[in-house]
Amino acid sequence: MLHVAVIGTGSISDVHLRAYLDAADEVRVVALADVTVEKANAKREEFGLREARTYADVGELLAAEDLDLVSVTTPPSAHRPVAVQALEAGVHVIVEKPMAPSLEDCDAMLEAQRRSRKLLSVIAQNRFRDEMMQLKAVLDSGKLGSISHTRIASEWWRGRSYYDLWWRGTWASEGGGCTLNHAIHHIDLALWLLGAPSAVAAMMTNAQHDNAEVEDLSVAILQYERGLAELTSSVVHHGQRQEIVIQGERARVSQPWDVTAETALPNGFPAQGGDPDVVADLEEVAAGLAPLTHTGHAAQLRDVIAAIGEGRPPLIDGNDGRRAIELVTAIYQATIERRTIDLPLPPDDPYYRAGTLVQRAPHFFEKTASVGALDGDISVGGTDAPAGVGPAGA
Ligand SMILES: NC(=O)c1ccc[n+]([C@@H]2O[C@H](COP(=O)([O-])OP(=O)(O)OC[C@H]3O[C@@H](n4cnc5c(N)ncnc54)[C@H](O)[C@@H]3O)[C@@H](O)[C@H]2O)c1
Repeated sequence: MLHVAVIGTGSISDVHLRAYLDAADEVRVVALADVTVEKANAKREEFGLREARTYADVGELLAAEDLDLVSVTTPPSAHRPVAVQALEAGVHVIVEKPMAPSLEDCDAMLEAQRRSRKLLSVIAQNRFRDEMMQLKAVLDSGKLGSISHTRIASEWWRGRSYYDLWWRGTWASEGGGCTLNHAIHHIDLALWLLGAPSAVAAMMTNAQHDNAEVEDLSVAILQYERGLAELTSSVVHHGQRQEIVIQGERARVSQPWDVTAETALPNGFPAQGGDPDVVADLEEVAAGLAPLTHTGHAAQLRDVIAAIGEGRPPLIDGNDGRRAIELVTAIYQATIERRTIDLPLPPDDPYYRAGTLVQRAPHFFEKTASVGALDGDISVGGTDAPAGVGPAGA
């Protein structure tokens, strides 16, 4: 039985707690921590965790409890200090996305993980969805041929009040806007599906949230060996119609799931009806996958629990979290410096360092309100976007 604590008992901690309670034969939640300890106490009541102890201080929690695993569900700027502290105390760590606001922070976390020999997993729950697994299987089959173009629409919608929460809407505590905090889901998916691009061009703006320093819209172009990808990161899109559309040499596949294949007439124009054999072949690859028994956070948390038991790395580790931060950093750098950025970013690049974005990023607007908590449910796990349309979270 693994002893688990959740650090940061705000909105997303509910999803972690539900997943742990659902795996009660393998884990027990023994403690909750939050700088506002009343929030931890309230969560204990809400989830009926009568035996769990609560703490206001992470150091105290780690000293007092014999823990195997913690979920770090604090705001992004606290991910590094809390995760490093937990790893140094010999505890496995699951940290919410985004891993941290800078590559320097990510590397400090990875270094602590190596020294401790414990596991570090960064949440990327949208990989654990049947249609994402299908897309991955089709790409890995090589049956699409070379990839020409990918359109990644990480299009979300958030009202003005979203940025009233105390830690949102500033470069210092949120770490960035929708590129870092929303599109990170699709950025992880794109890197998982396509690998890392070699260069990035981008622009960003704040189109609708005049109460936040950070961007609410960015458009990036990613260069691959032969192909290109376009990534829209947004919290200004009504309808939240998120999509990943991959155009290969032989077919188009997408999420939401759709397969189309053209074939040429002698004159090179597309023939009526396309190529049904290619479509059938790709549909067969997708149909060959068994449906997931768990999806989203529950699946990722269960993978980490299994990895601890089996002494293997988790399916999504700290390097995956870092890769996503590297691409986000390059998008910010490209837009702030107004030039194309080559990847990977070397450690002597100023944008590698913690604090560079805080110094150099434009303040589109100033934050106008700062409240400790906001009323209303957050949507995670398939309920944010219209049913079956896109990943969820943030
Ligand atoms: N994976 C997803 O789909 C998803 C969805 C929503 C949020 N998130 C991520 O989860 C994290 C938290 O977001 P949220 O919406 O739950 O925020 P929140 O403000 O509702 O909760 C964060 C909690 O952490 C506490 N806290 C802050 N600093 C702390 C520290 N040093 N030690 C202990 N507690 C501390 C705060 O008091 C607060 O209760 C963010 O990184 C966010 O991006 C992920």
